[in-house]
Amino acid sequence: MEMIMGALILITGGYLLYATKNTQPYIIAKIVIVLACIPLGIVGLKKKNKALTVIALLGFFYVLGIALTKSITLTKQKIEVPAAVSDESSSASEGIIQENADNALSNAKAIYEQECSRCHGIDGKQGLAGAKDLTASQLSDAQKKEMILKGRGVMAGYEGRLSEQEIDNLVLYINTLKK
Ligand code: HEC
Repeated sequence: MEMIMGALILITGGYLLYATKNTQPYIIAKIVIVLACIPLGIVGLKKKNKALTVIALLGFFYVLGIALTKSITLTKQKIEVPAAVSDESSSASEGIIQENADNALSNAKAIYEQECSRCHGIDGKQGLAGAKDLTASQLSDAQKKEMILKGRGVMAGYEGRLSEQEIDNLVLYINTLKK
């Protein structure tokens, strides 16, 4: 019995040391209850008074409960919930952005395969009629956009035939073609 009491005092004492950095009400409650239960327990053991010892033990269990739940009512606080919700919503909007990007790319892929692949090839490397290997292009995105808008030589410009957005997406798409 005295061994158990000793162990409990050590454990709760450890918890107290570990958590006295802040002054939440549950920590003050822990300290007060431990300070009250130590003499109660000692007196209970010395006088072989079962009631006192049991009260002291219950006190220590209650303190352990407080330490574990960080709450006087032993109910876990759910502070993490709003964080989790905002996490979910931000990953939902990220998901939508990602989906839009995927859609833009797959639209651009469809346009590319219909309009551009007959000269540039599906992989961008065909080089028909002097077309440049798109995967080896040294042009900046702005220059590629200009090239697609205005065309040059054999390649007719797509100004008026494709929207600016479609051309932007085409530039993104041809940048994804593997070398
Ligand atoms: C009729 C054949 C033909 C078609 C169709 C065509 N191109 Fe071209 N493309 C060329 C030729 C030829 C060149 C090289 C022009 C030059 O530099 O004189 C070129 C050059 C380019 C360049 C510049 C590459 C570089 O590094 O100089 C880009 C980018 C390009 N094409 C994209 C496209 C896209 C996107 C489409 C479809 C919307 C397309 N082309 C359709 C023939 C074509």
